[in-house]
Amino acid sequence: MRSKIVAGNWKMNKNLSESIALTREIITNVAGKLAADVRVIIAPTFVSLSDVSKIVKDTNVEVAAQNMHFAENGAFTGEISANMLQDIGISTVILGHSERRAYFGETDELLVKKVNTALKNQLEIIFCFGEELADRKSENYFTIVENQLKNALFHLSEKEWNGIILAYEPVWAIGTGETASPEQAQEMHAFIRKIVAEKYGDNLANSISILYGGSVKPTNAQEIFSKPDVDGGLIGGAALKAEDFTAIIKAI
Ligand code: 13P
Repeated sequence: MRSKIVAGNWKMNKNLSESIALTREIITNVAGKLAADVRVIIAPTFVSLSDVSKIVKDTNVEVAAQNMHFAENGAFTGEISANMLQDIGISTVILGHSERRAYFGETDELLVKKVNTALKNQLEIIFCFGEELADRKSENYFTIVENQLKNALFHLSEKEWNGIILAYEPVWAIGTGETASPEQAQEMHAFIRKIVAEKYGDNLANSISILYGGSVKPTNAQEIFSKPDVDGGLIGGAALKAEDFTAIIKAI
């Protein structure tokens, strides 16, 4: 179902006690204040996931993992499986983040495996994709984005798309302070909805949430979220301060 979503990707920030404190602040700030169609999701590190998952139980804040392995289990030192996430009450996982692609060599082929495993284990996916600065400059960013989506997600059935949230994150806007303009975000989000519609039909395309990520802050969130095809944001730096994250939630 298409919802408005503000998701905080904490990346490799906040130890356990800091994660617990930030979670409690966010819960207090949003308690009783979210519209029925708005979801708030936070994604701490694996170390904090179990504790944070317990703290948000029976609140209107949800928790996601930042990553998972494609295998069900086995000899994959340092990795975490879908079942391990499920077991501690996690029902959403971020996959395909540009930092995973750039620093950990995650390819479209690998992401297909992760996507399949996540869905098989009833995990909802926040699927990240987006072009790099060189692609934006050379003006082939539509092709790049289309291929990222087709390669990783277009093998899925219509039903499986119920478990997909898209997050367009232009790499040149992540952690740089440089945000895509609301018009640039809208242009790309409308394009994404169009290619999903071409493959799966208008109903499905209009039912998916497409988030924007890349230097979203309290000062620019409202303008970006006001665009018709932008259903919310995946927030990095500004998700690490309860005050800023709450202001971004208010903007939606
Ligand atoms: P920033 O908001 O810090 O630019 O990070 C965005 C992001 O990568 C969220 O996944």
